[in-house]
Amino acid sequence: MNQPTQRPNDVFNAEDSNPTQNPHIDTIVNARLSRRHMVLGGVGSAVVGSLGLSACATGASGGMASAAAAGLHSPINSLGFTAVGKSLADTVVVAPGYQVQVLYALGDPLTASTSAYKNDGTDTAYDNRAGDHHDGMEWFGLDAQGKRSDNSNMRALLAINHEATTDEKLSSFFLHADGGASKLPRPAAEVDKELAIHGVSVVEIESTGKQWSYKTSSTFNRRVTSMTELALHGPAKGSEHLVTKFSPDANRARGTLNNCGTGKTPWGTFVSGEENWAGYFFRDAKDDDRRGKKNPQVLALERYGRKAGAASRHGWESAGAGDSYVRWNNGALAADAKGDYRNEMNTFGYVVEMDPYNPKLAVRKRTGLGRFAHESVSFASPVAGQPIVAYMGDDSRGEYIYKFVSAARWDNADAQSANPLAMGDKYLDQGTLFAASFKADGTGQWLELSMANPIVAANPDFAFKSNADVAVFTRLAADAVNATRMDRPEWGGVNPRNGDFYMTLTNNSNRTVDGEMGVDAANPRTYTDIKGGQKSSGNMQTNEYAAAAVPGKEQKGNVNGHIVRVAQANPVDTVFKWDIYLFASEADADKTRVNLSNLTDDNDLSAPDGLVFSPSTGICWIQTDDGAMTDKTNCMLLAAVPGKVGDGSTKTLSYKRGDGSEKQVRTPMGKAQSPDILKRFLVGPSNCEITGLCESPDGRAMFINIQHPGELTAMADIGNPARYTSHWPANAGYGAGQRPRSATIVITKKDGGVIGS
Ligand code: FEO
Ligand code: CA
Ligand code: CA
Ligand code: CA
Repeated sequence: MNQPTQRPNDVFNAEDSNPTQNPHIDTIVNARLSRRHMVLGGVGSAVVGSLGLSACATGASGGMASAAAAGLHSPINSLGFTAVGKSLADTVVVAPGYQVQVLYALGDPLTASTSAYKNDGTDTAYDNRAGDHHDGMEWFGLDAQGKRSDNSNMRALLAINHEATTDEKLSSFFLHADGGASKLPRPAAEVDKELAIHGVSVVEIESTGKQWSYKTSSTFNRRVTSMTELALHGPAKGSEHLVTKFSPDANRARGTLNNCGTGKTPWGTFVSGEENWAGYFFRDAKDDDRRGKKNPQVLALERYGRKAGAASRHGWESAGAGDSYVRWNNGALAADAKGDYRNEMNTFGYVVEMDPYNPKLAVRKRTGLGRFAHESVSFASPVAGQPIVAYMGDDSRGEYIYKFVSAARWDNADAQSANPLAMGDKYLDQGTLFAASFKADGTGQWLELSMANPIVAANPDFAFKSNADVAVFTRLAADAVNATRMDRPEWGGVNPRNGDFYMTLTNNSNRTVDGEMGVDAANPRTYTDIKGGQKSSGNMQTNEYAAAAVPGKEQKGNVNGHIVRVAQANPVDTVFKWDIYLFASEADADKTRVNLSNLTDDNDLSAPDGLVFSPSTGICWIQTDDGAMTDKTNCMLLAAVPGKVGDGSTKTLSYKRGDGSEKQVRTPMGKAQSPDILKRFLVGPSNCEITGLCESPDGRAMFINIQHPGELTAMADIGNPARYTSHWPANAGYGAGQRPRSATIVITKKDGGVIGS
């Protein structure tokens, strides 16, 4: 197949706006390193499991605590299913003995009065339908009376991110009958639909015991879109940088956008990360002059990817003089910020929190968790009397891994609070942000991002005046402390067996041997991979490109991504140990430079993105959002039973420079993989990403999202369904029309058993 290899979403995911060098990770001045904490010892404190199910004891001993002690209902230590092969079919392939049902797809109605989805580009009223590009997702159990129940397995609410839309030349083309307008100005009627398919949905689901369905008319069903009014919370509330015509007092904002990863708080609310929001804003070529070149906002706009003259992804700003359109133009056009939307972009890039059980309560933007291309939020198991800790990633090339530590200390009674958003106020509105520095010796430091850190307060490059400024311009604060530039931090997860924190690093085409993103211990690979083409003989993977009968496409940098993990004696510590859990790779790649984790045809993967630890089995589920290995397989879901930080050895990679000199990188890595502990469980339909994952508490029903099937369809083919690159889920018997749709699926074992057993 000769598919285009640059997918529209890659352009927005692969933003690199980080101009810093930050190479000298060992020279950072930080007085908080404490040798005492380097010795990993047991804490044995009382904790509440991440689902808030039961109080139990944990041992963060650095060794594998017993699964029972970690509160797993059905611990799985070896994977019981047969691996699924790689697949290019336009269908969901799942391990033998399992079944898949499509549950909730783009356009499905969320009220009784909304018409069935015709799926031909004529549908409207998306405020009351499932949004597009289903992404992160969390489970919120309901009992028979419709009340919160953390133990219910048959009835629940799913809270689902709707990240983006399948687009080409500005238009979300599957949404419009003729594919839509690909020139400016965009028609308002098209833009109105596109504004509404972004955001979040909450949908009620239930099982008959045999089959799952969603309830069209549940009073819990809810849409939050890019136009919904939200409340600003945390240090940036009221900040001069968030003043807009819509909210001159900077207490409110409109909409959540490009919602990617998710999390579930210890008090039972949903959190969602705003990721590639910057690309939705237009900034005209003269805006630097109007703001004044020395205006710190100009530096900040560039650091967040909006140079003067930047075009917007969809051209929403062009659709008319109405407020819902002009707000996407972030030029300084009026006399002051109260008269325009110069600061509108500063109201995006946060973690938002909502109570799925209460559709009437406003969603809250938690600015204390910083502003960047947010993905998931992974909470460490809360410990009574200790701060709440959450880990987060900034998904762009060369961006950072973050940690938030609350000022308030955990009270077990808060897990079941009747007013959970007040718990969000308590734990997420005051606290301290840190960015990670990974050192070559396998240790690392969390570097404080606040005015209490003199490196931030006296930063010569950007004058921070307050912690509100740190919350709004977080990337600049992390630049100041020389955090380690990573290969696109995506989802994180905390291993319920031992507290280790995992984070996927999807890929990085800009990783090179030397230079501003030269290889380092935590991001040690740069290599060439060939995609497509036909070999005359031998291995096409690296050096035989020149000998190929039909040349493929050269892909460079960290092509396939990796997963890093961090161990801390106590999650609040500022020091950690780390290693690389897994190097993603094609199975036939060079085992000394690329396939370092010894992957085989049963478990090779590229671009790990979603990562979720099952609260019931402890399985680490890994999902891919790949464009590098898609000549061989569609994106996939793998199951892993990981060990712990330090269970492998070190690896030294040698790079030859052009002048013949050598650069060596020594990196700590986890034990080699084998199919009994890492195995492919599912492969999705054509051009999709596999993302989002949650389970019923008993681990017998697993929900995942199929995002953007058919994404490589050419907009010019909109009138010719035979040429769509995917017809899923219609070809699986779900819904009308032939246009491909993002959708939630549910996976169950045919014998009713626990998933993965
Ligand atoms: Fe939305 Fe970074 O993936
Ligand atoms: Ca390849
Ligand atoms: Ca993602
Ligand atoms: Ca992604």
